[in-house]
Amino acid sequence: MSTAPRPAQPDPAPGPQHVAIIMDGNGRWAKARGLPRVAGHRRGADAVRRVVRGAGELGVPVLTLFAFSTENWGRPADEVSDLMGLLRHYLRNELEELHRNGARLRVIGNRDGLAGDIVRDISDAERLTGSNARIDVNICINYGARDEILRASRNLARRVAAGEIKPDDIDEARFERELLTAGLPDPDLLIRTSGEQRISNFLLWQCAYAELVFVDTLWPDFGKEHLEQAIAEFRRRERRYGGVRG
Ligand code: IPE
Ligand code: IPE
Ligand code: MG
Repeated sequence: MSTAPRPAQPDPAPGPQHVAIIMDGNGRWAKARGLPRVAGHRRGADAVRRVVRGAGELGVPVLTLFAFSTENWGRPADEVSDLMGLLRHYLRNELEELHRNGARLRVIGNRDGLAGDIVRDISDAERLTGSNARIDVNICINYGARDEILRASRNLARRVAAGEIKPDDIDEARFERELLTAGLPDPDLLIRTSGEQRISNFLLWQCAYAELVFVDTLWPDFGKEHLEQAIAEFRRRERRYGGVRG
């Protein structure tokens, strides 16, 4: 047996601390099979279950999923109602497994626009899972980044008008505390499925330096292995933050 010292292995690039996903392509998945759009949304909810479990197994500390945007209210009323029904179903049926697996669930978005029973289910789920620490799972519902930034700005303007703070007190840290993601690290990896390459009003402030990974897979087909591939791609990226090569 050789006693020669083994060459030091380079440290593997660290994995992302916060993965955000724009879950897109449910409608096209259904259309390709001659099914109604709701069938795609149902299969999309199955993908959420798989990806949440997979993220936990891959050691992702924070996972944020875009489920319903402030613009999605503009879809036909029956589709909006199907999506809200699936959300109710998800909150009631997945809660136990999320809790058992140590997930802390948080819903990010403007709750004013949501039905009363959904708001109550959200509060119950957040209360039940609030001290879990294995993975943070954030689901964005009635979320729009411009709406979030405007509301943060209004809150700060009110504080200035009330004489509680001065305009110059508003720095990045102060501003971030007004956002719905206060206390979370910024996403370092943003994935969008279905081949579309746009942000669609998602986490505009928070994704300032996120690595973007666009995949052609439609959301209902997305699983742990796709997440793993996106994380591998993230690890190959060189992040510079406006600096020069290290
Ligand atoms: C994503 O799938 C789900 C939501 C936006 C609610 P889509 O419903 O946008 O599916 P496509 O883009 O029409 O295929
Ligand atoms: C973005 O997808 C919103 C969610 C995934 C919830 P959309 O399908 O609504 O976005 P656009 O219309 O293609 O930009
Ligand atoms: Mg879409």
